[in-house]
Amino acid sequence: MRTHYIAYFSPAGSTRTVAKMIETALQRHEIKAILLDLAPQGGADMATLAPKVKADACLWLGTPVYVDHAVPQVLEFIAALPQGINGVAVPFATWGAVCSGVTLLEMAQHLGKRGWTTVGAAKVLALHSSLWASAKPLGAGHPGADDAEKMGALVAAVVQKLSATPVVPLGAQVLDYLPPAYAAEAWEKSLTVTKAVLGKHQPDRSRCNGCGTCVKLCPTGAFTWEDGYPVVGERCVRCHQCTRHCLQQAFAYAGEVIETRLHQMSAQSPEQAETVIYV
Ligand SMILES: Cc1cc2nc3c(=O)[nH]c(=O)nc-3n(C[C@H](O)[C@H](O)[C@H](O)COP(=O)(O)O)c2cc1C
Ligand code: SF4
Ligand code: SF4
Repeated sequence: MRTHYIAYFSPAGSTRTVAKMIETALQRHEIKAILLDLAPQGGADMATLAPKVKADACLWLGTPVYVDHAVPQVLEFIAALPQGINGVAVPFATWGAVCSGVTLLEMAQHLGKRGWTTVGAAKVLALHSSLWASAKPLGAGHPGADDAEKMGALVAAVVQKLSATPVVPLGAQVLDYLPPAYAAEAWEKSLTVTKAVLGKHQPDRSRCNGCGTCVKLCPTGAFTWEDGYPVVGERCVRCHQCTRHCLQQAFAYAGEVIETRLHQMSAQSPEQAETVIYV
């Protein structure tokens, strides 16, 4: 009998919601899962968390899609997973109706390099976390009851799969679902490049009162202090939790520009805005 772990990185909450859906669905099969939060307030060390996953695990691993990819911290977590322990994995990604990119394929490839077999996967439609202030956010109402139902079906299929020996892996091409031109473009994109294009993300010191809320909330532990002011470092993933919760509005946020751009990108997306399970 395998031990089920649900590890998730969720700055804005949708990926956590899906993790909870999986936990609830597993309980229906009388399976109690161990949850690992990869993005708690203040951040987490992946090299400490990953070894908590023990032999014969079934690892449900969730990330938001960020610029067509898994967040770097989730790939760090995979790189720190124990090897040669007969592990199987079910990567899942939440996405904001723009493009799910190569996220699931990338996770499966990284898991494979560590000797982990991918047996299922899901891309789950979710509220776009860059559009929290928008009157018409992409992915509104998701993840919801229909997504929970699909995740329940995925859990049932995976549990069924795990009862057979040997376990049947997910077909190699199943997660390579984007049209080739879009996939090639997605591989080229990255959060690092996007961050460079967007410019610096630092609080305006003329507004900041040094309250420390942003430092406490940051799910990647990206902040240090300098002269009594918080300074954002390289581990920032632009999740905008600091922007959202700073009462002094010290972080710049071009909401309308972002909204227009993301709606344009969503309209040109090669994907249907829906949740899909792969098993
Ligand atoms: C920096 C950033 C990049 C994002 N990139 C994409 C993307 O490439 N495609 C997409 O459909 N959604 C994208 N999103 C939306 C998130 O994938 C989506 O809202 C996700 O559910 C957020 O997960 P969370 O609520 O667990 O943080 C992005 C959000 C942020 C903040
Ligand atoms: S939350 Fe805003 S005001 Fe408080 S320390 Fe951070 S930037 Fe400064
Ligand atoms: S956007 Fe703010 S809260 Fe999010 S990772 Fe960067 S510094 Fe931390």
